Amino acid sequence: MLEQKLKEVIRDVPDFPQPGIIFKDITPILKDAHLCTEIVEAFAEQVKDLKIDVVAGIESRGFLFGLMLANKLNIPFVPIRKQGKLPAKTISESYKLEYGQATIEIHDDAFAEGTHVLIHDDLLATGGTVVAASKLIEKLGGKVAGFSFVINLEFLKGEGRLHRFSENVISLVKY
Ligand code: PRP
Ligand code: MG
Repeated sequence: MLEQKLKEVIRDVPDFPQPGIIFKDITPILKDAHLCTEIVEAFAEQVKDLKIDVVAGIESRGFLFGLMLANKLNIPFVPIRKQGKLPAKTISESYKLEYGQATIEIHDDAFAEGTHVLIHDDLLATGGTVVAASKLIEKLGGKVAGFSFVINLEFLKGEGRLHRFSENVISLVKY
């Protein structure tokens, strides 16, 4: 089963980026081309009944499978980036981190009003990042069609914060 396979490959790195945190490292997945294909196929299967026009991936780890999935679905990919990285006109949304604040941005012409957007990221933790991403999508007149994550850290209960944007929350590995 894919979840089991992924759990065998995802590496726990203790005390990164801070003491006491066990970091879930997905880089070993990226070395296995066949496994990457299986991941994208699993996402494609799970979103097949959703209406999705665009995949929006969140910098940086959300770019990895986000672009692959958009390509598999034969639809556009839109990057959501950290502040100051996108070159053209943007809109921004700030959100709270455990310590301090972060800001993410999207180009204001990323998609047309009424577009159905799947938000993709590698990992759901507290949900702060994808809540901010959802607000960006809605500010541009888009509809959040769902969320896809490789990993959902369920013990952090981020998923509950997403349901006001969409009930469709897909993840391949849960901890
Ligand atoms: C990590 C992860 C998610 C986010 C999840 O990204 O890739 O994007 O945190 O956390 P949250 O659900 O609590 O908001 P990070 O900001 O470390 O940046 P990176 O993807 O560029 O490594
Ligand atoms: Mg990230």
